[in-house]
Amino acid sequence: MRQHMPAKYWRNLPEAAEIAALVAAAPTRTARMIEQAPGARVVAPRGPRRNPDHVDDVDQPLRTLAELSAAVQHCTACPLAQHATQGVSGSGPLRPPLMLVGEQPGDREDLAGLPFVGPAGQLLDQALALAGIDRAQLYLTNAVRHFKHELRGKRRLHKTPAQREVMACRPWLLREIELVQPQAIVALGATAARALLGPGVKLAALRGQPWPGPGGRPVWVTWHPAALLRLPADERQRTWPMWIADLAHASNAAAP
Ligand code: URA
Repeated sequence: MRQHMPAKYWRNLPEAAEIAALVAAAPTRTARMIEQAPGARVVAPRGPRRNPDHVDDVDQPLRTLAELSAAVQHCTACPLAQHATQGVSGSGPLRPPLMLVGEQPGDREDLAGLPFVGPAGQLLDQALALAGIDRAQLYLTNAVRHFKHELRGKRRLHKTPAQREVMACRPWLLREIELVQPQAIVALGATAARALLGPGVKLAALRGQPWPGPGGRPVWVTWHPAALLRLPADERQRTWPMWIADLAHASNAAAP
């Protein structure tokens, strides 16, 4: 809302009176919607008193990644699924040294049903190779499961997910982390960092050291590959070695 209208004008909107009650009731409504979706009943937060970092105490039927991935297809916790081809869950081995968390599937990932198979994934592959990391040993996933985009002619242009969409998707990510059991996590970009470490965190302030994340796992924060793709050539050249160093650092710290 702040992007569209300064807060001082909000009180003039007739619907603004509803906001506090809507926000207060949102977790319960979200839980109800997820409970009604087949197979997805219990991973969502059930109400404001639940600690969102701990889903262990919730009665969970989602015991495998395949079950989680199937349940994601019925998620109605936010509207993004309505315009996406499918929900995209992560891929990779169980108990890896590192789990890499991106923002959301892009156009190619939405069609393929797999994370990081498009241009951002190709740049990530180059960086991983230079950092001496074997992609096959990693688990790759996203903070948000559905591709948020706007149509420009026939093109589907990426749109950054809103914080409420990131939070609506967070129970899936937390359950995925519990099932995958990575030693450490790398947040690629601010959206992933916020999903893992809390709203409002800033990438630049967090780079260079691990932070305690879900289940106490160390979370390293670095740039998202798409951010590097968008940088002007000279800035990309400056950022590239720092990005590779960040990835190598997290990988070395996680190595047995
Ligand atoms: N960007 C992401 O954050 N994730 C993907 O899977 C692809 C592009």
